[in-house]
Amino acid sequence: MSAADVPLIYVLNGPNLNLLGMREPEIYGSDSLDDVHAMLEEKAGELGVAIEFRQSNHEGELVDWLHEAHAAGARAVLLNGAAYTHTSIALLDAIKAIDVPVIEVHLSDPAQREEFRHISYVGMGAADEVKGLGAQSYVVALEKAAAL
Ligand code: DQA
Repeated sequence: MSAADVPLIYVLNGPNLNLLGMREPEIYGSDSLDDVHAMLEEKAGELGVAIEFRQSNHEGELVDWLHEAHAAGARAVLLNGAAYTHTSIALLDAIKAIDVPVIEVHLSDPAQREEFRHISYVGMGAADEVKGLGAQSYVVALEKAAAL
């Protein structure tokens, strides 16, 4: 298999996830985003896929990266939209605009938390979701993406 044949999976992280590890560890755990990235690189190697791992605090940048995933012919996108999950029609429209299946990922389970987290615009367009498993949510979501 040449590098060009290896399925590419984008992993996009939204606002405040750059602070993972120090940010409300009782909710999100003590792994940093770099730890999550390292965990996923290892899993990607086992699964025979490549990942493009990014984080932004800016909604439009996440929209641009969803478009980029489509243009790059990505197999799937794992998207932890963080707070934008619950507010962003722009993310929903981008998910619907692209051909690439999006898997919604959360460390916590928003459905078990405050009511304002119960709405998920991302979920309205996502093909699947994995939530509530801490950093393992990403690993399970990558397994699902690799099987698509
Ligand atoms: C989160 C859940 C969101 O409600 C919250 O705004 C986040 C993180 C999670 O991974 O559990 O920033 O997406």
